[in-house]
Order: sequence, then structure tokens, then C-alpha cells
Amino acid sequence: MQVTRQQIVRELINNSAVPQQEYASAYAASNIALCKYWGKRDVELNLPVTSSLSISMSHLGACSKISLCDSAEDHIFLNAVAMSHNTMFYQRLVEFLDLFRPTQDTKFTIDTKTNIPVGAGLASSVCGFAATIKALDALFGWDLEPNELSILARLGSGSACRSIYDGFVLWHAGSAANGLDSFATQLEYDWPDLRVGILLVDGRQKSMTSRDAMQSTVETCRFYKTWPELVTTAIEHTLRALDHKDFWLLGATAEANALAMHALMLATTPPIIYSQAATLDYMQQVWRARSAGLGVFFTQDAGPNLKLLFLASDEARVRELFNEIEVVAPFVPVTENIVCVYE
Ligand code: DP6
Repeated sequence: MQVTRQQIVRELINNSAVPQQEYASAYAASNIALCKYWGKRDVELNLPVTSSLSISMSHLGACSKISLCDSAEDHIFLNAVAMSHNTMFYQRLVEFLDLFRPTQDTKFTIDTKTNIPVGAGLASSVCGFAATIKALDALFGWDLEPNELSILARLGSGSACRSIYDGFVLWHAGSAANGLDSFATQLEYDWPDLRVGILLVDGRQKSMTSRDAMQSTVETCRFYKTWPELVTTAIEHTLRALDHKDFWLLGATAEANALAMHALMLATTPPIIYSQAATLDYMQQVWRARSAGLGVFFTQDAGPNLKLLFLASDEARVRELFNEIEVVAPFVPVTENIVCVYE
């Protein structure tokens, strides 16, 4: 029988808790998968077919400030702008909050701030779910463990479960029907020289959500059955690359995994193509730079933008070739996080 999201919430938290403070706020970084999550074994609980491995984007993320409000509906702000009810951001957040209301009449004010460049293909809603569950945990004093926060964030969006942590993160697919063994954990590796460059191709809202695209791939792509083994091998190679600080293995594995995911989409009915002409031009530029000896690789999610992987020692050369990139240093501590400053 289908386990519901509400049952999972009841399993993990005491929903009759009263707020411990007037408001609480929390930050969560966005994350980019090096080995992708693409396909669910359970749509209701966002349980994945495979494990996946990501890197968190340190200072690029979302902060969520939450309090109870005396009103008939939730008040949701994104970067100080009240979100209208017909936006996907509003609807998905309200649906997520529905899981955690002590009573049906409990309404929240959520002030989400994000510094993610608009349309960069780093969904602000994903780290928004992670930040919101951390803030709810603080507000109600549930005192949950990180893996429990990860399970609850997953109920909002699968990849949000990885945004509970910094650094390299592994989301264990798990096999239980209730998904209580499907959560992310932080990997004990750091790589201070690693850089991620966000290469914006088109910042407009994409035509198809990753949620719909992955479902359509699972249902209609005849090659989807090859995917689980591909990801398992990619994760093994990535872990080996992390063990040996082998950047070329890390980059080559991530790039091949992203291309394989897009190949599946191409073989989906109807075909799903997120790349634009400029995406392909950039890919070719990356390949040319690499054949000239530069250590640069790309990964791509459900959108036309690319994320470049390279080392600090090559940053100047990469910037010369792609002068419009925003560079993130995932392991360099950020002194001041302006995202979480509320007036
Ligand atoms: C391509 O986590 O957005 O970014 O669980 O349906 O909310 P839902 O999907 P979502 O999918 C992310 C897909 C991806 C790959 C990844 O991040 O692993």
C-alpha cells in the first residue's frame, strides 16, 4: 500500500509541538549533482531509482525565516516580494507546509531570501525546502537529526535532501517502501581547490519541469533500464576520484553522467531537449579547451545552462574563455553570508 508523505511526517515529528520562539531562520546551500538523480521509484515520496552524489554551492543558496501568522492563508515572500498564489514557488511551498501544520488553521509567514542568479538552473525552491525544514525544526524545537531533516526535505523535492549538508553529499537511494532509508549524508572529503563555474545560457523559465521530464523518461525511454548501472558506476568512479584527488576522473565522470541523462531524454517520447544552440557551442568550447590541455569539464541539469568544473589553478584561463561565468569555491569558507541578513 502506498505510504503517504503525512505518514512519514507523523513518524518523524511530534506535530503537536508549539513554537519555541517567535521566529526561526536557517540557511541551506544549493547543490549540483555530479552523478544525477533522474527517475523515481515512488512519486509520492520522491524516492529515487538510484543514489546520487552532489556538491553543495556554499554561499549560493537560500535562507528561510519562518513564523506563525494570524491569517487565513500563508504569507510567502521571495526576496522581499510577496509571491502570488499562481506561482509554482508559492504552490509547492504551501503544499510542503501542509505537512507540518500543528492544526489545519496554523498558517505561516515565510520570508525566503536567495542569492541564486535568476534562471541559473540552480532551483531556489530546492534549497528553499532544505532551509525551510531546518527553520521549522528550530521554530518547533523538534531537534531532528540531519538524516531526518534530509528525509523531510526530500518530501518537498528529491534533490533538496542533499542541500541539508555542505561539501560532497551522497543521497542513498534506500530500498524501504516508506523511504526512511533514503536520505543524504555528507562525505568526508574536502577539495579546497575545486571550482564550479555557472555558465548562463538562458535564464528564462524552462518549458518542462525536471519532475515531469524525469517521469516521462522513466515511463517512455526504452534505454532507461541502462541508467541504474550507469549511475552506480559513476558514483564508484567519483568516490575513487575523491579518494585520489583525481580531478580529471571526477570531471570526466560528471560530464559523461550528465550527457547520459540528456541522451535518455532525447530517447523519450516525446523527446525532451533542454540544450539550446548556445549550450552546444559552449560544450564544444569546453572540449576544444580540454584537447588543448585545460582541465575543464561541464555538467548540465534540466535546463540549457552549464556548470563548469575546474581547479583554482586554471580559474584565470577558464574565465578568459568564458568571461560570463559566476565562480563558486565550494570549500572556501564564506566570511559573511548576506543572504541571511533580515532587516
Ligand atoms: C536534473 O529534485 O527537482 O537536477 O524530486 O521531482 O522535485 P523532484 O525533482 P528535482 O530533480 C533534480 C534533477 C536534476 C538532477 C539532480 O539534481 O540530481
